Amino acid sequence: MLEFDSATTAILEDVYQGADFTRRRRASFDLLAPARGEVIIDIGSGPGHMLIDIARAVGSDGHAIGIDPSAPMRDTAQNLASGRGNVTVLDGSATELPLEDSSADKAVSVQVFEYLPDIPAALAECHRVLRTGGRLVIADMHFGSFHWASDDPARMARMIKAWDHHLVERAVPEKLPSLGHAAGFAVEQIVPVTFVDNHLRPGGLAWMMMTPMERYVIENKLVPAAIARDWAAEQTRRVEQGRFYFSITHIVTVLRRS
Ligand SMILES: C[S@@+](CC[C@H](N)C(=O)[O-])C[C@H]1O[C@@H](n2cnc3c(N)ncnc32)[C@H](O)[C@@H]1O
Repeated sequence: MLEFDSATTAILEDVYQGADFTRRRRASFDLLAPARGEVIIDIGSGPGHMLIDIARAVGSDGHAIGIDPSAPMRDTAQNLASGRGNVTVLDGSATELPLEDSSADKAVSVQVFEYLPDIPAALAECHRVLRTGGRLVIADMHFGSFHWASDDPARMARMIKAWDHHLVERAVPEKLPSLGHAAGFAVEQIVPVTFVDNHLRPGGLAWMMMTPMERYVIENKLVPAAIARDWAAEQTRRVEQGRFYFSITHIVTVLRRS
């Protein structure tokens, strides 16, 4: 699995402020609809951009609580939050939230559940810490919607299959409605956020995925380096030829604790 170490944290801290990732974060933020005075937790808060958006919206009588097992991520979020009295960043995991029962009004988790080995356990924890009627917003890529054009579809399929090793579950959005229901949540809304790129825009999702993907499959010996490099070179060539095409859909699922 991908390690959320200092190097990954530094990359995400920067790229998550770009247009594609801001649009992705905004979709979850709008569905979360933070209101003044609410206590809201961000599970897997990462570099903390959503946490700060929430802190602004709930105001000084509310509270934004970030939870993340990665120390470099927590440090980055803590720096971003410095000077704000209504933000707390805690060490913890989605499957063991360091919070009291029924202590939160809402919870959000963006691009985290796909890394969890036990999604039902995480949903049980969300159910425990949310008050009755509390909202839970979970957003992840649906890798089943992934399309990336290539003149060598077998090599592309090999690269995507190897990249699947960086996460645990590639179809979180498809499984969440039934898992959520089993954990005591009602499904309120399912909202797609689609990304389509026809060139490698710096800061865009395709651009952001290509470099770590090539590095990850080589470092983990999942694909021979020469094949991974040829794959990347083909994509650069396709940009020059005006033939680049990449699309994937991120899904925001809104659940309500019954
Ligand atoms: C792709 S980043 C997303 C960060 C943030 N939610 C965002 O959208 O900016 C995934 C985050 O999940 C965190 N994470 C990994 N395993 C976790 C777990 N078991 N519980 C909570 N967070 C976890 C990582 O440390 C990392 O900060």
